[in-house]
Amino acid sequence: MNKNIYIINGCNLNMLGVRETAIYGQSSLCEIERQCRQLCERQNFTSVFFQSNSEADIITKIQEASEKADAIIINPAAFTHTSIGIRDALLLCSMPIIEVHISNIYAREEFRKNSYVSPIATGVISGFGSEGYLLSLAFLEGLLRK
Ligand code: DQA
Repeated sequence: MNKNIYIINGCNLNMLGVRETAIYGQSSLCEIERQCRQLCERQNFTSVFFQSNSEADIITKIQEASEKADAIIINPAAFTHTSIGIRDALLLCSMPIIEVHISNIYAREEFRKNSYVSPIATGVISGFGSEGYLLSLAFLEGLLRK
């Protein structure tokens, strides 16, 4: 099953492993990328792993994914709660979209409970730590096989 998965990460996620480790854990984004690539290889998925602190760059990457991806896994980070631009870009995408959050955004501050992405996502994984990325890939394996 040769499917192409875009894994897109928003602002400050390049600081994982250093940033608020009590909330986000000890894994760096490099470590998460390594685990995702390893699982993708076993699943016979190709992957594009991307992070940016710039909303514009994320929108451009989503536009690229709209033409090239079979599925998108996205952790929009703080842009989740603010970006209509990212939501509009995702609306271009007809493939499955999984929204991932390392923390449980519903168990935190009120402002994190609103996601512009959730209503248009295929599903949301929130609060399972960095495992959420791997859970998304496991789900996609079943979904894309159908
Ligand atoms: C996050 C949750 C967001 O509210 C926060 O702004 C992040 C990370 C998460 O993965 O838990 O940067 O998306």
